[in-house]
Amino acid sequence: MRAFDIDRLIDDPRTRIIVCCGSGGVGKTTTAAAVGLRAAERGRDVVVLTVDPAKRLAQSMGLSELDNNPRRIEGVEGTGELHAMMLDMKRTFDEIVEAHSDPDRAKQILANPFYQSLSSSLSGTQEYMAMEKLGQLHRSGAWDLIVVDTPPSRNALDFLDAPERMGRFLDGRFMKLLAAPAKTGGRLGVKVLSAGFSMFTSVINKVIGVQLLRDVQTFVTAFDTMFGGFRERAQKTYELLQTPGTAFLVVAAPEPDALREASYFVERLAEERMPLAGVVVNRVHESSGLSGARSLAAAETLNERGDHPLAASLLRLHAERMQLSAREGRLRDHFTSAHPTVPVAAVPAQPEDVHDLDGLRQVSADLAANSAA
Ligand SMILES: Nc1ncnc2c1ncn2[C@@H]1O[C@H](COP(=O)(O)OP(=O)(O)O)[C@@H](O)[C@H]1O
Ligand SMILES: [Mg+2]
Repeated sequence: MRAFDIDRLIDDPRTRIIVCCGSGGVGKTTTAAAVGLRAAERGRDVVVLTVDPAKRLAQSMGLSELDNNPRRIEGVEGTGELHAMMLDMKRTFDEIVEAHSDPDRAKQILANPFYQSLSSSLSGTQEYMAMEKLGQLHRSGAWDLIVVDTPPSRNALDFLDAPERMGRFLDGRFMKLLAAPAKTGGRLGVKVLSAGFSMFTSVINKVIGVQLLRDVQTFVTAFDTMFGGFRERAQKTYELLQTPGTAFLVVAAPEPDALREASYFVERLAEERMPLAGVVVNRVHESSGLSGARSLAAAETLNERGDHPLAASLLRLHAERMQLSAREGRLRDHFTSAHPTVPVAAVPAQPEDVHDLDGLRQVSADLAANSAA
């Protein structure tokens, strides 16, 4: 198993972006915050872009408000500074509209019901907006390290696919068809429309109603001028992710599904020529001492004798933990034999959720200890 050195990565001034990705619930947000904190305490000026921090963690970092701007985190011990922000997807979308259209048009778009539902519910919007925000933070040049947490999608690859999907959606037939009548005078059912299209709109009309269709059309026409900008920026950020200043940390739980997902992700990064720093297997259970088999045998002996019931249950618990730890070890070995060149580091499960700077410090110290080995 190859290890990787997290401290070398975060101390290297050439490292400008670290992206934490992986499937849902594995510890992406925790890892991003932990790595950001460690980098700040080792002297770098860091911003962590979190997407969905658990409430207690957000509170302890002073991120109780979702204001879409980085805030300085108190309590960092060291020479660097840690800033963190929570992505406000809708606000980010609105800001793009405001930045790329004149005030009247921006107002028109922002008030449009279709825009309002699109901006908060289109699948992949959150991933897209995380990408957009990363681009903004990078362009601002205000930090020397940006640590990015990725959205809680079930499928880790969504993060990489979002810009392309968003581009396809904006370019797509559906949007073009919808935009057509507005461009030809804004009236529906006029002769210029092909029969096929009239049928299409009349079906849409029945299903979603005239008012909504008008909203969509107004929106699409007003938005038209911005399509290019959207795609261009997404493309730029995508390219940024391919530069050597970027490092991906793929986070996984020691479970078959999460490790399978991590495998896909690792392969995809290689295809896209995006730099992988390593895989973090988070929340592993370590145990040592009496082997599982021996402690089970001892528990049975005590049971048969009817002696020491408490000791017998402790032995049984220990045996279960040893088995769990062995199973996790096998899963890790399986992963490393499939990806022999990918560095892997394990982070032990803490007894409690990670909800404050001390907890984050512990996670990053474990990561450093296990990755430098
Ligand atoms: N090493 C760990 N030990 C204990 N709890 C952890 C650890 N890593 C993460 N957690 C907890 O697991 C939960 C999910 O973690 P989170 O970072 O929010 O996952 P994700 O962002 O991948 O959905 C959180 O409650 C977090 O505190
Ligand atoms: Mg998360």
